[in-house]
Amino acid sequence: MIILVDFGSQTTHLISRRIKELGVDCKIVSPDGVLTIIKQLKPKGIIFSGGPASVYEKNSPTIDKKIFKLGIPILGICYGLQLMVYLLGGNVKQGKIKEYGPAILKKDGKLKKVGDSDLLKRVDNLIPVWMSHGDVVESVPKEFKIVASTETIACAVIEDKKRKIYGIQFHPEVVHTPDGMTILETFIKICGIRISTSKMDKEFADGLVLDIKKTIGNGKAICALSGGVDSSVAAVLVHRAVGKNLESVYIDSGLMRSGETKTLRKVFKKHYKIGIKVVDAKDIFLKNLKGVTDPEQKRKIIGKTFIDVFEKEAKKSGATFLVQGTIYPDVIESAGSKLSQKIKSHHNVGGLPSKMNLILLEPLRNFYKDEVRKIGKILGLPDKIVNRQPFPGPGLAVRIIGDVTEEKLEILRNADKIIQEEIQKTKLFKTLWQIFAVFTGIKTTGVRGDGRVYGETVAIRAIEAQDAMSANFAKLPYGLLEKISTRIVNEVKEINRVVYDITNKPPATMEWE
Ligand code: XMP
Repeated sequence: MIILVDFGSQTTHLISRRIKELGVDCKIVSPDGVLTIIKQLKPKGIIFSGGPASVYEKNSPTIDKKIFKLGIPILGICYGLQLMVYLLGGNVKQGKIKEYGPAILKKDGKLKKVGDSDLLKRVDNLIPVWMSHGDVVESVPKEFKIVASTETIACAVIEDKKRKIYGIQFHPEVVHTPDGMTILETFIKICGIRISTSKMDKEFADGLVLDIKKTIGNGKAICALSGGVDSSVAAVLVHRAVGKNLESVYIDSGLMRSGETKTLRKVFKKHYKIGIKVVDAKDIFLKNLKGVTDPEQKRKIIGKTFIDVFEKEAKKSGATFLVQGTIYPDVIESAGSKLSQKIKSHHNVGGLPSKMNLILLEPLRNFYKDEVRKIGKILGLPDKIVNRQPFPGPGLAVRIIGDVTEEKLEILRNADKIIQEEIQKTKLFKTLWQIFAVFTGIKTTGVRGDGRVYGETVAIRAIEAQDAMSANFAKLPYGLLEKISTRIVNEVKEINRVVYDITNKPPATMEWE
């Protein structure tokens, strides 16, 4: 077993997932009382996660220094590295440049041969890695050797071979560090643990269905269906478990994309063989959102309105359980662990009112999107549904900067429809995590037919990702961007400018709000 000490990183759970993918048990623990837990669980290795704090700040999370004397191999990641340096006598300071995104890892020039580093011995020189930090290590404790650097930071990887203590500034757990798994695997091997890969198969899905059966028993459940992959897979799982005792309700919030409600009815009947009840709640949502501009407030209002409408439906159906397709990144970005920061309240987590008359059932809470897709495939769902691009619960409301009105929704729907039509014509659709339009709320000057126009600006956001924790903007061909842009300004009369979002995550999130 590996103990993963959580200092509040957005990716703590992702590190644990990677370790579990290697067939190794991993337990996430908080830094307080860690020595007692280690005594009980006798782990073969310890990992310190990253975190949002700075080691030199007052009240930043720390750990008992005795941990370094236990003789158990330790790997510190990002804040974890900085903390070990700080506690063992080195120096950490605020970096001149904050570094978020890709960097190239260079094995220290003084190393004569690749084998000189324990942790990096199985990776090449000059590999891409993913950074997300503001602080840097200035000097290392005397027992440590710097074994890799980047153009921006002198100390990217350190090792104390004798005590088997290692520190890395980048994030090996995200897919944007392609050799990250090899580095984690190397650490696991250093810990003396054998690697075997875990699998997600029919037995695994049957286990999930059985768990749901046990939880719901003879009770009734109502499912908050959005038509997206997550809630669809959740609904099919629960339907397998309790059959007719599940009522699937789709609330039309008026914040959906063009034609969404119509296609949803069709798809569900055909592919899932589950009847859905459509509740038209457009007016309530728009009324509750009137004049609201703050993103977090929007999310909270939408979350609460969803629950209010659902509670009414649930009362009618006699359900006691509310099934939601919440997945892990929704939980973590809504501040799912003690030391992690809230990035945004995903409507199906942070937006829930504290008093609710339904028991929440979230069968996918511990999974990432790609895992949910695998479960969907095991359940026999067709590719075109399993591979649907994600759509946020709060819908177009978080893609409209400023207050939400029917008029803006219509403009955005029309622009988004063009993007979807054009991308569907290409093979790129399959490789993109998401592509969508954002109503920026910025008006700019244009010229049309020799006359001055003052119109709206729409942004295109196209993302490549594997899980939602890190992502890069897609380098779409200019020809395609031009086609989309030309169609939007020609066909949506209110829009006279289209811009392309070229920001990675981190530092930007995928949705603008
Ligand atoms: P962010 O913007 O957090 O998005 O980088 C990561 C992924 O999550 C989707 N997203 C949501 N999904 N409820 C959801 O069900 C939400 O409130 C929500 N907010 C963002 C987003 O579309 C992206 O795929």
